[in-house]
Amino acid sequence: MKKVIVTGGAGYIGSHTCVALVEAGYSPVVVDNFCASDPGVLARVRELTGRELSVHQVDCRDRAALARVFEAEAPVHGVIHFAAHKCVGVSVREPREYYDNNIGSLLALLWVLERSPVPGLVFSSSCTVYGQPEQLPVTEASPIKRAESPYGRTKQICESLLQDVVASGSALRAVTLRYFNPIGAHPSGRLGELPLGTPQTLVPYITQTAAGLRDELVVFGNDYPTPDGTCVRDYLHVCDLASAHVAALEWLERQAAGALHEVFNVGTGRGVSVLEAIRAFEDVTGVRVRHRFGPRRSGDAAAVYAGVEKAQRELGWRACLGIREAMRHAWIWQRGLGSEPREIGRAR
Ligand code: NAD
Ligand code: WQD
Repeated sequence: MKKVIVTGGAGYIGSHTCVALVEAGYSPVVVDNFCASDPGVLARVRELTGRELSVHQVDCRDRAALARVFEAEAPVHGVIHFAAHKCVGVSVREPREYYDNNIGSLLALLWVLERSPVPGLVFSSSCTVYGQPEQLPVTEASPIKRAESPYGRTKQICESLLQDVVASGSALRAVTLRYFNPIGAHPSGRLGELPLGTPQTLVPYITQTAAGLRDELVVFGNDYPTPDGTCVRDYLHVCDLASAHVAALEWLERQAAGALHEVFNVGTGRGVSVLEAIRAFEDVTGVRVRHRFGPRRSGDAAAVYAGVEKAQRELGWRACLGIREAMRHAWIWQRGLGSEPREIGRAR
């Protein structure tokens, strides 16, 4: 079976992608330092797939250790690089840590790949690289504006790094996926998001409020120029996102020989407001989410949703699940976590 190294494979998106890879006939090899995840998640991946999983506890910035993983696991068919810090707010307070981890881990990986080239690399980027978009939907051709946070800048720099390495004549074959807003959980309730401390993103805040762990949700602004005044985003079920990685690997396999770097948006193409998201959760779960309107959050764009034609046309991928399924699954996951918020390591 074709081996795919999955850095950050114990994380939220990585763990779901490991399941999707096994289902598609690949053999995932996890590389994770567990700075933001629980190794126990991988036991759940084994349980869901009924398959053993190769795991290496390695910091991706450690080039020598990473090279040893590639040697031990050769031949490696592909790499999916999730390993990074992802909290926008923390990145403002700890820019050095974010630049070091997010750029340092991709850089180390690219050095290793120079000596042990693989047929394909898939890199996790974010719609945050577009900054405040001027036009909707946001397509891959939309301008890359100044990022709103150090986190966003690390993703812009990583994308430029991939582009520059390909232009340098290296053999790198890479796909960058720009995710919009991943939400939800595995339908089994065995995998999901483990926010570090107080959730910074909407859906974990909704589920923790519904579970009684938080008093109320503050809706950041209700005076935006949107139909109900609250911000609009493109919420994507994490299982759909996981399958986009399989589609990206298969797309790389179909491309002619030679270096390449191609970028794809991964979203649903549909915008959903904060109030619609709350209502969807309440509808499918029958549980009320206490909320009130508060001031706008700095840096928030009024509306962001993806143009997904390129992914549909080239990757043959589209999102199949909607916000209601995502909310249903997020709630199954939240109930399985019990009554205490999970704290793993430190929020970074
Ligand atoms: P996550 O924090 O759940 O998972 C990241 C994983 O990477 C964790 O298991 C962590 O322990 C590991 N990791 C971090 N630094 C590492 C290092 N130096 N060496 C080895 N392992 C390391 O995050 P996620 O939500 O699964 O996000 C995965 C990727 O997707 C990240 O690159 C993130 O920036 C990107 N992304 C996430 C979102 C989102 O909303 N979740 C949106 C857009 C892009
Ligand atoms: C969604 C909407 C908030 C919390 C972030 C990152 C982005 C990418 C995806 C990694 C917004 C509102 C939120 C709350 C609220 N991640 N909200 N009350 O900001 O669109 O994107 O995740 O790459 O880089 O910035 O997602 O979930 O934080 O917010 O009203 O307590 O929910 O204002 O309109 P965002 P989010």
